[in-house]
Amino acid sequence: MKKSARKAIIAGNWKMNKTATEAAQLIDELIPAVAGADCEVVICTPFTSLVTAVEKTKGTNIHVGAENVHFEKSGAFTGEISADMLVDLGVEYVITGHSERRQYFAETDETVNKRTKAALEAGLKVIVCVGESLAQREQGVTEELVRMQTKIALQGVTAEEMSRVIIAYEPVWAIGTGRTATADQAQEVCVAIRKVIGELYGEVVAEATTVQYGGSMNAKNADELLGKLDVDGGLIGGASLKAPDFGAIVAAASK
Ligand code: PGA
Repeated sequence: MKKSARKAIIAGNWKMNKTATEAAQLIDELIPAVAGADCEVVICTPFTSLVTAVEKTKGTNIHVGAENVHFEKSGAFTGEISADMLVDLGVEYVITGHSERRQYFAETDETVNKRTKAALEAGLKVIVCVGESLAQREQGVTEELVRMQTKIALQGVTAEEMSRVIIAYEPVWAIGTGRTATADQAQEVCVAIRKVIGELYGEVVAEATTVQYGGSMNAKNADELLGKLDVDGGLIGGASLKAPDFGAIVAAASK
C-alpha cells in the first residue's frame, strides 16, 4: 500500500490558548484558509471552546477534537471530563498522552492506555502521542522508548479499533522550541512506529494507520516533513493558532 492510500491528517493542538470568544474569531479565519484541503483537518481546542468549535465548524471540512479525556465514565473526579461528555457535544477526536500531560500532570504510559481505551470505547478517534526527550535521544534509546510507549498505549486496543487510532510522533525536544526534527529523523521514527504496529496487528493495519509528526512543524518546514513516505500528517501547536500558517501546512499535506 502506498502513502497515498493513507489519510493525511493535519491536527491543530491549541493547548491552553484562546478564550471561547477568541476561538470563534480564529475559526472564522480558519474556515476559508483550509476550505480547499485534500486531507483531514482537525482542531483540538481547550474544553471551554469545544461547544463553539463544534457549532462554528458545522457544514465545513474542519473536525473538532479535545486535548485530553478522563478514563472513567463518570463519578467523583473533580475537574475531569469523560469521553461520553465529549461525544455528546459532537466532538470527534481527542489527543491522549501529550508530552505536556506526561511532564506536568503525571501522565504515565498506563494512564495514556486507559484514556485511549475509554475514548475508543465511546466512539472517539484518538491521537496518541509518543516521543523521546533530548536526554533519551542522546542516550540512543529513541526507538526502544517510542516502541514501548506505543505498545503500552495500545494494550487491549483491537485491530478494528485501530482504524480510529492515529499515532503522533512528537520528540519532546522539538515541541515549542523551534527546533524541528529533520525530515529524516521524523521518517526514521515514524517507520519504527509503523513497524511496531505491524508486529501487534499485522501489515495491513500498519500500512493503513496514520502516523503524524509533531514538534515545531510550520509553514516553512511542512513540505519537507510531509514529503516523507511514512509521515502522514502533523500535530501542530504554535502554528495552528495562525490561520495563514495552518492553512499553508494543510496545503502542504494536500499535495
Ligand atoms: P509545537 O507543538 O508545534 O508548538 O511545537 C506541537 C505539539 O505539542 O503538539
